[in-house]
Amino acid sequence: MTAVVVLAAGQGTRMRSSTPKVLHPLGGRSMLGHVLAASEPLGAEHTVVVVGAGREAVEAHLAQVAPKARAVVQEEQLGSGHAAAVALAAVPDLEGAVLIVNGDAPLLRAETVTSLVDAHRAAGDVLTVLTAEVPDPTGLGRIIRDDAGRVRAIVEERDATPEQRAVREINAGVYVGDAVSLRDALARLGQDNDQGEQYLTDVLALLVADGRPVGGSPAADAQDVLGCNDQRELAARRRTLNDRVLDRLMLSGVTVVDPATTWVDVTASVAPDAVLRPGIQLLGETTVATGAVVGPDSTLTDTEVAEGASVVRSHCQGAVVGPEASVGPFSFLRPGTRLARGAKVGAYVETKNAEVGEGSKVPHLSYVGDATIGRDANIGAATVFVNYDGVAKHRTTVGDHVRIGSDTMLVAPVTVGDGAYTAAGSVITEDVPPGAMAVARSHQRNVGGWVGRRRAGTPAAEAAAAAETRTVASDEGRAAGSTTDDQ
Ligand code: UD1
Ligand code: CA
Repeated sequence: MTAVVVLAAGQGTRMRSSTPKVLHPLGGRSMLGHVLAASEPLGAEHTVVVVGAGREAVEAHLAQVAPKARAVVQEEQLGSGHAAAVALAAVPDLEGAVLIVNGDAPLLRAETVTSLVDAHRAAGDVLTVLTAEVPDPTGLGRIIRDDAGRVRAIVEERDATPEQRAVREINAGVYVGDAVSLRDALARLGQDNDQGEQYLTDVLALLVADGRPVGGSPAADAQDVLGCNDQRELAARRRTLNDRVLDRLMLSGVTVVDPATTWVDVTASVAPDAVLRPGIQLLGETTVATGAVVGPDSTLTDTEVAEGASVVRSHCQGAVVGPEASVGPFSFLRPGTRLARGAKVGAYVETKNAEVGEGSKVPHLSYVGDATIGRDANIGAATVFVNYDGVAKHRTTVGDHVRIGSDTMLVAPVTVGDGAYTAAGSVITEDVPPGAMAVARSHQRNVGGWVGRRRAGTPAAEAAAAAETRTVASDEGRAAGSTTDDQ
């Protein structure tokens, strides 16, 4: 294949969105990204993307996802045929087979593109169009065949006769053609149609009139060809894409408890014998290893979950959850979090740039930011790694087998040596040597009888008085008893 041309300059008016249509995401890629991924295996020398509406955003996106692709600007959106002509003008010396594909076909798969190219080569056509029989062809171009079954034209719905509209074989918007013949036919396109546009689809009838061989190749799976023109279709395509991903996972041995509420990006991977519980999203480059359990109700982005680990009702981004480690419920793991084997991040814990060593635990209500925690340490409830002085972030190091008391503030930069303890409620501003107990809090002072004097008549004062009476009585009782014993 010499070139892949993606038509992506259209407004996408029906999306009613400020985002260019082809940039809407589904299943971990933009619509455009899916189309590029499907044509990737062709190994084309040139990839040309025609941009127009929202071109800056589309160009910026392309630079990220397909830096080798070339954006070509169609200044005015004069129709898909005009767009294809603009693309071919950008690669003037091109000869041989070219794939032209609408940018709004996110369900297109590489197999489908490859078999269209094979069909094109086998038939020796100058143009082969991908077709599909669909139950509802509304809005799509119809494939018009003659009595011998040969493709003769593509007629847009708005230009079609009632008989033509009854046809259910449609144009998928994916074409393989000979560059030179296409260039020639595109130059001759008129715009005598309901929209006054230059239709790429009219090229087919022009080539037929020239007596050149053209053909139509039906897609093996009609879903592949479904376009996406409004938000309802976007949601439907997203669902279909997700169902395909889940089918593949389940056939490979992944347990998906509730496919309806499980969303897995095409870029994520899940190993056999992992369990996906209801209400989860596995996004980006997330990987889930065998024996791991994710969910219910969790969102993982670019996160690695190792063998036998579990993540319950949590939100994880750019994190590594080590083998047999556990997270949640209700925790937030931010980028740079790395939990070693068997580590635990329990309920209501936020972590960032934090290494939690093997077997170490942060069980409750803590913030662990910019930290290195050794192995088998325990971080008491409500501990805060105070990493930010208002200007810069600083790091805290906690050694092996450390016991951090509840409600400790570890004011970074600070180091707590191996085997050390901190007393509950301490504010640790200085390093703690290995094996030491750091106590950094003021002594307690009880002001006796304060409530009785200063809050007289309140229920608290009454309760205190009653308690005092009971204490006096039991002291007397004890005194009486001991007197008896002594005798
Ligand atoms: C198009 C086909 C139709 C087919 C359907 C499949 C035409 C005339 N019709 O209809 O036969 O059944 O796709 O989904 O092609 N574009 C440009 N520049 C333009 C106009 C369009 O780049 O000036 C791009 C769009 O971004 C889009 C593609 O061409 O990716 C098709 O345009 P669109 O308006 O979506 O055509 P449809 O009405 O869907
Ligand atoms: Ca379309």
